[in-house]
Amino acid sequence: MVARCHEREIRVMAMVTSVKDARAVAAAGVDIIVAQGTEAGGHRSNWTEAVEEAGTMVIVPRIADAVDRPIVAAGGIVDGRGLVAVLALGAAGVMLGTRFIATRESIAPPFFKQSVLAAGAGDTIVSRAFTGLPMRTLRNQFASDYGDAPVLPAMLQSNAAEDIFKAAAARGDARYFPMPAGESAGLIDDLPPAADVVRRIAVEASAAVRGFTAVFDPQA
Ligand SMILES: Cc1cc2nc3c(=O)[nH]c(=O)nc-3n(C[C@H](O)[C@H](O)[C@H](O)COP(=O)(O)O)c2cc1C
Repeated sequence: MVARCHEREIRVMAMVTSVKDARAVAAAGVDIIVAQGTEAGGHRSNWTEAVEEAGTMVIVPRIADAVDRPIVAAGGIVDGRGLVAVLALGAAGVMLGTRFIATRESIAPPFFKQSVLAAGAGDTIVSRAFTGLPMRTLRNQFASDYGDAPVLPAMLQSNAAEDIFKAAAARGDARYFPMPAGESAGLIDDLPPAADVVRRIAVEASAAVRGFTAVFDPQA
């Protein structure tokens, strides 16, 4: 698949959670590797069973040291501080998911956005209950009641539960709806336009870097 994309001058990016998988996708010719920390919202990008689960702070430098590709950091980043932190760890860029749920343009239902705003950093869990695959979501009634009961294969699980999710969406009921989100929900408390999120990150990051320069090189 990678070769066929390259024949058409399409760059390929793959998201991984371990050094083993980073090496595997690099060997397959992938151009950019996303290092996903455990705090990330949404599906866990673990491709092999030998998963090496670690937070963004640990997995980004591990993967940056292991492979000769640009690294994008994913998990827990919502602002300029997060961007500067992962650039220092060896990333060339960032991927944000949870932050963009809580934006004006996001297509998430209003109760999902409000749940992200209300959530603390400890209000997420990794559950297979919604799709059959491990996914970090806001903890709700559906995930708690389902527990670790057996699941159907990937995506068949979501098809089987679709009537429940649709009914919950129709009545605005966050208790029975899948709400993929990461620990960074605990850092989010506003609903700006998406463009403002990006602008703010650039401004905050440059202020953070100037602050460091003042500390390490007072003459600069
Ligand atoms: C609502 C939501 C949907 C997502 N959907 C996908 C997806 O379809 N494919 C994918 O590769 N990652 C998906 N992700 C995971 C992101 O690619 C990324 O790893 C993660 O959001 C980064 O962590 P953060 O949520 O702390 O920003 C999703 C994340 C969220 C929050």
